[in-house]
Amino acid sequence: MARVDQRLARRRGLLVWTLFGLAGASCVVGACGGETAPAQPKGWKDEIELASPVDLNPDPHILEIELTASLTDLSFTSGGTTAAWTYNGTVPGPLLEMTRGDRLIVHFTNDLPEPTTIHWHGVRVPAEMDGMPGHSQDEVPPGGTFDYDFVVPDAGLFWYHPHENAAAQVGFGMYGAIWVHPAPGDEEPDQGELGDELVLVLSDISIDSAGTLEDPAAGGDLGTVFGREGAMILVNGRPHPSLDVRSGLRQRWHLVNAARSRYFQLSLPGHRFTQIGSDGGLMNAAEEKDLLLLLPGQRADVLVTPKGEPDAEVGLTWTPYERGPDTAGQQQLPQEVMRLFFDSSDPEGDKAIVAPEPYHAKRVIETIDTNGATPIPLQLTLAKNDEGHPELGFNGVVYDDAQPLQATVGETQVWSIENTTDWDHPFHLHGFFFQPLDADGAPIEPRGWYDTIDVPTGMTSRFAVKYDNRPGMWMFHCHILDHEGAGMMGMLDLLRP
Ligand code: C2O
Ligand code: CU
Repeated sequence: MARVDQRLARRRGLLVWTLFGLAGASCVVGACGGETAPAQPKGWKDEIELASPVDLNPDPHILEIELTASLTDLSFTSGGTTAAWTYNGTVPGPLLEMTRGDRLIVHFTNDLPEPTTIHWHGVRVPAEMDGMPGHSQDEVPPGGTFDYDFVVPDAGLFWYHPHENAAAQVGFGMYGAIWVHPAPGDEEPDQGELGDELVLVLSDISIDSAGTLEDPAAGGDLGTVFGREGAMILVNGRPHPSLDVRSGLRQRWHLVNAARSRYFQLSLPGHRFTQIGSDGGLMNAAEEKDLLLLLPGQRADVLVTPKGEPDAEVGLTWTPYERGPDTAGQQQLPQEVMRLFFDSSDPEGDKAIVAPEPYHAKRVIETIDTNGATPIPLQLTLAKNDEGHPELGFNGVVYDDAQPLQATVGETQVWSIENTTDWDHPFHLHGFFFQPLDADGAPIEPRGWYDTIDVPTGMTSRFAVKYDNRPGMWMFHCHILDHEGAGMMGMLDLLRP
């Protein structure tokens, strides 16, 4: 919690700050006796508020919801509406806020004109809840239903999206975030200490001036090989929203990149990001960054302290990222994705804000012991099939022809993934967090748990993974969803010992 001069706080009637402090870690943003976070200007994040679901279950440790996929008319710009593909009628779908160890029950209905499933990206679910058609479940046909039911075992930001025709369905708006708060007693810093929290779901969408969604196969084979990016960048489903901030007050942003192909490289001119967490919760140390890179599928937990004069503004900016020849060519110029306005209602109050305490990481992340680990060498490949169309794959094999790799519960493997193509690929493994390794086999510092990492063109990326007791068939694939769809996906069969 930011410290303010007590006199000032009283004069401004902000005693609620004290109450907020006493409520401590059990008090999440938006859930403190009906108060939103008191430190920022009133209504500071109204423009990017995410929908919340209706909880059907009175048990505080169970979130039980109905989730329906359907086409919904939404307006992303002032001109016309778009029949977006949504969960419960919004883009993104509802934010599922839970505490580590809670149970999630989702009564899912598919009202789309085609089959779908839900994959819970990053959540260590049992294999039969993983949403992979043909392996963990049958696809849910139009009009069909499916019940998902599992415990969320880790704190952090996760997300959900379809795993059927995913490039199109995600590109049309189907994704949502799962925010799992630490449980009492977890080794996490007090939330209040770190500042007001925000969940930012980054994505993009392509619609024409009449509001019609772009053909998901636009650009043909070239579009597939590049990976299609939506022309309009969205933050929590809004193009270029704004946020009202108090100068000098630290904020904690939980970000997820839910775009079908776009790498999000973000800057905030005049500011630095302090990244404290990765895909799987907090890291063992913080990392200061001018540019924050999030691959499709990745999450980051960052501290930001906006600083500016009253009435000044600063833009959170997407900066082109070259992920191979001509990929930045789709959109060469930086684009502002969200604008931060400095509140001018109480400049005296701003002056009273004391610089936040430096962040001290407490999380211990042990080294996975790779002595005797099984090596798994893989190549990312691009070839042409007999008809001259691109085939993306692993070791020259596309998903439809692939045989599963194998592992046994309790086993440790070291994967080395060599990229033989001219483009970078964000590699994602379902179900398990892994530890990225350098060329010498040592964990990359700062340490964090990941489920998605970059494999830059011409390079080899390595990680260690130790399989816990969740046997079944797990997927791994490129999270540029056009690439996944063109064959760059494989299976790992995790066997009982
Ligand atoms: Cu978010 Cu199979 O992935
Ligand atoms: Cu790829």
